[in-house]
Amino acid sequence: MARIVVTRPVMEEGLRPLFENGHQVEILDPDPEHPLDEDALIEAAREADALITMPSDPVTARVLENCPKLRIVAQHAVGYENIDLEAARARGIVVTHTPGVLTDATADFTFALLLALVRRVREADRYVREGHFKRWETKLLLGHDLRDKVLGIVGLGRIGSAVARRALGFGMRVVYYNRRPANPTIERQSCARYVSFDELLRTSDVISIHCPLNKESYHLFDRAAFAKMKPTAVLVNTARGPIVDEEALVEALEQGQIAGAALDVFEHEPRVHPALLRSDRVVLAPHLGSATVEARTAMARACAEAVLAVLNGEEKIPYRLV
Ligand code: DGY
Repeated sequence: MARIVVTRPVMEEGLRPLFENGHQVEILDPDPEHPLDEDALIEAAREADALITMPSDPVTARVLENCPKLRIVAQHAVGYENIDLEAARARGIVVTHTPGVLTDATADFTFALLLALVRRVREADRYVREGHFKRWETKLLLGHDLRDKVLGIVGLGRIGSAVARRALGFGMRVVYYNRRPANPTIERQSCARYVSFDELLRTSDVISIHCPLNKESYHLFDRAAFAKMKPTAVLVNTARGPIVDEEALVEALEQGQIAGAALDVFEHEPRVHPALLRSDRVVLAPHLGSATVEARTAMARACAEAVLAVLNGEEKIPYRLV
């Protein structure tokens, strides 16, 4: 019987294969005000054979060194910038993540945020609740069409291309920027044209971020980037907060360099810049991209399957990074 530590409550149905195989599963529930730091993680996982982690858990070299029995870290997310992959590799610890199973949920939510922003759903809801709705009016809360607008996708991977396919249904034209052009099948399925980052900034009406956070993408959206965008353009971020320099975004909104933003992630999550909280030109969400019952259950199951594969000594480990 192996000891498996899960650092946050997840959809238990997804963990069922672990219970059925008789493993001991400990599910932590840290105080939201005090998320797990390195010491708390070591304390919790010192005796663990497997660890199921969240993006906010610091899985550093020090944590891995102090958990000598650990055979796998299964990240319950697609992003894994919180895990020291090199340290895991050096210690022979397998690392997996959960791409694929949350693609549609995240792409749907990207459009939910975008539509809420351009059709002013947040203001409309408040208008009705506050009792201002007296009659149908021709110029009340006008938004903008998506049809014939240019969507610029930064990062045409699984989620980016799912967003592109949805955009086609809305009659948008799609361009994208990656460090390297995407594989031709993804490009074809997305009907997306590869452009430079500069061209994407200058020509897009909507820019949606779907790249991972790494050294190259950190603050990719800085003052210089916002200065090149159309004053009518909007930015959607359902990827990672630090890809956007939040101070620069606030300035761009205040100076009218861009028209609005829809943000599911923040530079200093869970803290949100006070100017964003005040602004009527932004729509905000608490990192909900993959938050559907189906996706979150599948994420937990993908972690459980990876853990079992390692514990059973299988050759093929699903969604293996290291
Ligand atoms: C991810 O999968 O990386 C998300 O941000 C968490 O749902």
